[in-house]
Amino acid sequence: MSAAPHDSTAMHPPHDTAVITGASSGIGAAFAVALARRGMGLLLTGRRPEPLEAVAKQCRALGVPVQTVLVELSDPAERRSFLDRVRRIDSVSLVVANAGFGYPRPFVGGPLEPVVQMIDVHITAVVELFHVVLPAMVARGSGGLIAVSSLASRLPVPGAESYVASKSYLNSFCESLSVAVRDSGVTVQTLLPGFTRTDFHRYDTEFADAQPRFLRWMTPESVVDVSLRCLDRRRPVCIPGWSNRLMAIGLGVLPRSILRRIMGRTMGSISGTGDSQ
Ligand SMILES: NC(=O)c1ccc[n+]([C@@H]2O[C@H](COP(=O)([O-])OP(=O)(O)OC[C@H]3O[C@@H](n4cnc5c(N)ncnc54)[C@H](OP(=O)(O)O)[C@@H]3O)[C@@H](O)[C@H]2O)c1
Repeated sequence: MSAAPHDSTAMHPPHDTAVITGASSGIGAAFAVALARRGMGLLLTGRRPEPLEAVAKQCRALGVPVQTVLVELSDPAERRSFLDRVRRIDSVSLVVANAGFGYPRPFVGGPLEPVVQMIDVHITAVVELFHVVLPAMVARGSGGLIAVSSLASRLPVPGAESYVASKSYLNSFCESLSVAVRDSGVTVQTLLPGFTRTDFHRYDTEFADAQPRFLRWMTPESVVDVSLRCLDRRRPVCIPGWSNRLMAIGLGVLPRSILRRIMGRTMGSISGTGDSQ
């Protein structure tokens, strides 16, 4: 896939610019619309041209300039080309590193390639993007970075080991970064959504349709609304939804040994052959 611009509208001041990765659907698309409503110019990425362009059109109708870039974030050459594009923007005031995917396949005996791609998209692409934009934000004394992690990152999840581990990297990286830039005027937020109704669950529609009672699904719009309120208050960690916040508190106090047992029972674990010598 080429990282060449799919469509472009020149950015002109006085619009501040927000860069949002993974804006073709779900949480990223909701961020795009919410930030356009706040009057921000946008640079949006995705891989599917049509949904991405539909989001861009919706944002342009709100009167802001919007550029779109098609980029496969697991591809180093496409990332480089995208980052060059970001460097050319005069004033990036907000970055939402949102692009991500789930891959509910067993690690043991499963293919390695999607695991490596996940690390590239969830970790490398975010770190590279923040590295490009942060110095100018710090020099200006203002700006915001949002990394979209997941509440699941607080859990041991068999079958989604790489997903939760890559999101845990973001938690740790962004919390330290938020302390490092605290006095510079730049805000770093780790956003930990719980279950949110988006295309993310297309791999497991049975689960998404089942709607178990104990799970409270949120809309991407409500997740974004809470995230932007957290950003306004300069909160470094943002967990949208009271039931998700309650769960986070519970996960913090429950001994990890009990948590591992619960998750093992719920999600299953692989049995050996019993051929121990
Ligand atoms: N939905 C949930 O329940 C939930 C819960 C916690 C955290 N999250 C996190 O929220 C973020 C957004 O997900 P979502 O729920 O809004 O799902 P989504 O609707 O599937 O959106 C994912 C976005 O990421 C982009 N993307 C995925 N893989 C990519 C890749 N390899 N290269 C470039 N772009 C890629 C997609 O682009 P294309 O579709 O155009 O390819 C899409 O724009 C993810 O980081 C996810 O881990 C979601």
